[in-house]
Amino acid sequence: MTANTTRPGPRGFGGRGGGRASFVEAPPEWRATTVQACGLWPFGAGSGTPMIGVPVGRELRTGATLCCDPISWFERANLIHNPSMLVLGEPGLGKSTLIRRMVVGLTGYGVVPLVLGDLKPDYRDLISALGGQIVKLGRGLGALNVLDPGESASAAARLTGSARRKLQAEAHGRRLNMVTALVTVLRGRPVLDTERTILHAALRVLDERHPGVPTLPDLITVLDEGPDPVRAVTLARGDEERYRAAVDPLHASLLGLLDGPMGQAFSRPTTTPIRLDQPGGVCIDISGIDDADAELQAAVLLACWSDGFGSVEAAHALADAGLAERRHFFVILDELWRVLRAGRGLVDRVDALTRLNRQRGLAQAMITHTMADLLALPDPSDALKAKGFAERAGMIICGGLPQTEMGPLTEIVRMSRAEQRMIVDSSTPPSWNPGSGRDGAPPGRGKFLCKVGGRPGIPFRVELTDAEVSLSDTNKKWANSTSAAPAPERR
Ligand SMILES: Nc1ncnc2c1ncn2[C@@H]1O[C@H](COP(=O)(O)OP(=O)(O)OP(=O)(O)O)[C@@H](O)[C@H]1O
Ligand SMILES: [Mg+2]
Repeated sequence: MTANTTRPGPRGFGGRGGGRASFVEAPPEWRATTVQACGLWPFGAGSGTPMIGVPVGRELRTGATLCCDPISWFERANLIHNPSMLVLGEPGLGKSTLIRRMVVGLTGYGVVPLVLGDLKPDYRDLISALGGQIVKLGRGLGALNVLDPGESASAAARLTGSARRKLQAEAHGRRLNMVTALVTVLRGRPVLDTERTILHAALRVLDERHPGVPTLPDLITVLDEGPDPVRAVTLARGDEERYRAAVDPLHASLLGLLDGPMGQAFSRPTTTPIRLDQPGGVCIDISGIDDADAELQAAVLLACWSDGFGSVEAAHALADAGLAERRHFFVILDELWRVLRAGRGLVDRVDALTRLNRQRGLAQAMITHTMADLLALPDPSDALKAKGFAERAGMIICGGLPQTEMGPLTEIVRMSRAEQRMIVDSSTPPSWNPGSGRDGAPPGRGKFLCKVGGRPGIPFRVELTDAEVSLSDTNKKWANSTSAAPAPERR
């Protein structure tokens, strides 16, 4: 027998009886830092995915780790021009879970998460586990005094000169905006310019004359009494009737605010003031407010944002003066579609926020289901502004979406056919398992495509750790319910 001298290829000998392996199993790969693995494996290779930021999951094709969060990509990696992100995807595919992962990672970097209005609640358990502050607001739960300057007052007391004046002016402007916004929500139409001027003057009077922190009833008393600075802006010129005619509509609206659930929420002293000095951040739980209570929901959201951003400004003013450490904040606007629909004025608030986040040292994550949610607002100018949120977002992360979404989405971010197909495929509903009589998990759950401008997207999958699984079951209200089928009896 002659020895076969030809050498086998990498899969063995070809041809009949050669035993060539048609399938070569990929060898297992591990990933470790160069500090840990330097002695073990000297041939380190770079990764195709960014490695700066919070590890969010694995790239779907290569299995490489993907690190991604708006603050690290903006500040350290210079990958995005604006520290903000928009997350889109059908319900239940894991959008909030992805943001929770980012929150955990970012708190590790020293960033303070702010959930200024948790509607479901999706973040309460996590923020509480991280040692953050939980503030509850809603019917009969807690109150937030819209005239309370909050942390701005104590910060201003520590500052001097122009820094102090600037902070006080900002706090005054915020209170004015807040009262006008509440009246707008209550009336369903904007406040007149003359009324805004009257409120401005009345708040100034309160600042100068009122001992301690004023509340809405004190503001009403000022309008009722009509001190000179307030009369002056109404052009009443000493005529009592003209003064009453000018302030009465506003007076009536403020009385309307005090009467009913809004009064309970806003006209009493603040029950739990926001404190930003806790590393776990703040979560304002407003899940107790019924969805049918859209007016109250809108008003509470506005008040939470106003109070929260006031505290952020106070923290920055102290850091500018060298009196406190500089901190970054991660603001989460989950369920954006509900927020925008909840009432007038909210689109403008989010608009202002998305324009100023870089200057304010805060990053934001906006989460909604579809572009259609943003574009279908009743007022066309609101819809245009909402489209602007998506256009300005530094990165867009898409979970499964229906085919109809591809048109509006590709107007905002360029996507290849393959990327579009991946997003549409991820929205496939789960298959019905006749064995268990139940649906499996949706195939697109935890799968996302990360897009930054026209760059090719990075498809990835979020894998949860055990600790995250126990904190992330947003379907838990359905478990152990009385309608759950009884467990089969064992024999
Ligand atoms: N990567 C994942 N792996 C396993 N389970 C996940 C993953 N992501 C989410 N889940 C589970 O899926 C369910 C829905 O997740 P989540 O609330 O994050 O979805 P969502 O997209 O925010 O939904 P909605 O649009 O209704 O707010 C939760 O029970 C969560 O535990
Ligand atoms: Mg969610």
